[in-house]
Amino acid sequence: EKGTYPHYMLKEIDEQPYVIRKIIQEYTDSTHRLKIDEKISKAIQQADRIYIIAAGTSYHAGLVGKQLIEKLAEVPVEVHIASEFSYNMPLLSENPFFIFISQSGETADSRAVLVQTKALGYPALTITNVPGSTLSREADYTLLLHAGPEIAVASTKAYSAQIAVIAILANDLAEQKGCNISFDLDHEMSLVANAIEMLASQKEEIESIAASIFHKSRNAFFIGRGIDYFVMQEAALKLKEISYIQAEGFAGGELKHGTIALIEEGTPVIALATQENVNLSVRGNVQEVAARGANTCIVSMKGLNKSGDAIVLPEVHELLTPLVSVIPMQLLAYYAALHRNCDVDKPRNLAKSVTVE
Ligand code: M6R
Repeated sequence: EKGTYPHYMLKEIDEQPYVIRKIIQEYTDSTHRLKIDEKISKAIQQADRIYIIAAGTSYHAGLVGKQLIEKLAEVPVEVHIASEFSYNMPLLSENPFFIFISQSGETADSRAVLVQTKALGYPALTITNVPGSTLSREADYTLLLHAGPEIAVASTKAYSAQIAVIAILANDLAEQKGCNISFDLDHEMSLVANAIEMLASQKEEIESIAASIFHKSRNAFFIGRGIDYFVMQEAALKLKEISYIQAEGFAGGELKHGTIALIEEGTPVIALATQENVNLSVRGNVQEVAARGANTCIVSMKGLNKSGDAIVLPEVHELLTPLVSVIPMQLLAYYAALHRNCDVDKPRNLAKSVTVE
């Protein structure tokens, strides 16, 4: 039930610190370490390449998941949109391992791929919020999100839960492989939960930013580089599905290769800067669009922030920033939709789970 909340989406955004803490608890073993089932990490260790298959928001979580697995566990990962993979299968490595990410566990496009890869005899893990769901039953292994039911069509807490569970998986694989990781995931994740809590208490500020940048706009750009680019793809999806503003998540450096032609007086451009190595170049992209009249808004991480930034995120580990940076993006989308009197929880033309291919 949504209790005192006007919408499930807002309630589910607010639940994210709790979900992160719940995941830490569920995945802590008797030796007080974050672990996943040994059978799963053993099976993945046999693989020379991981293929992540998903749709929509879960696909965006997969993009972040690739970074986590490659950076921590040093296993190559490919991320594929389920509906593309099913009829256009890439050349696979010798020993592939498939990870299906699906909040509902019922997405037909993802299931179609699972049926194909099972027929080829490849092992599969499903990361889902729903125990006993089709994708969970049909895969060899399951990792649960423990996010509680997600009712709003726009996925929020499931995205965070997916990234958190993959972070634990990546960390576990890295430990098993003996990779050199200087990372206390348990501690870093609790910092993340606190940071989300802080941001969720800045709703009024975020609401007024949404009102000023999306007021009457028909389109918007969300730019970032590296891991921030992945989060901005999710930010754009969130905005378009509930507010019907046409939005695009874009790699900052790619704008000048065509898309910058779309920038005109007042076009909203939201930029994300959480990574030191791309902070200045993203800010350079903001200057380029501002010079062409864009209405810009920078969201940065503490330590990298500059005066004039609209939102400063509390500092967390650089690989876990998506868990924090996505919060203002979810809230911006929520308030943009609210101000346009859109049906936030049940946007037009969409269903919570897409059970047709
Ligand atoms: O249940 P799944 O995670 O497999 O669903 C995948 C997409 O349909 C879903 O994430 C969709 O994009 C959401 N409406 C996004 O908010």
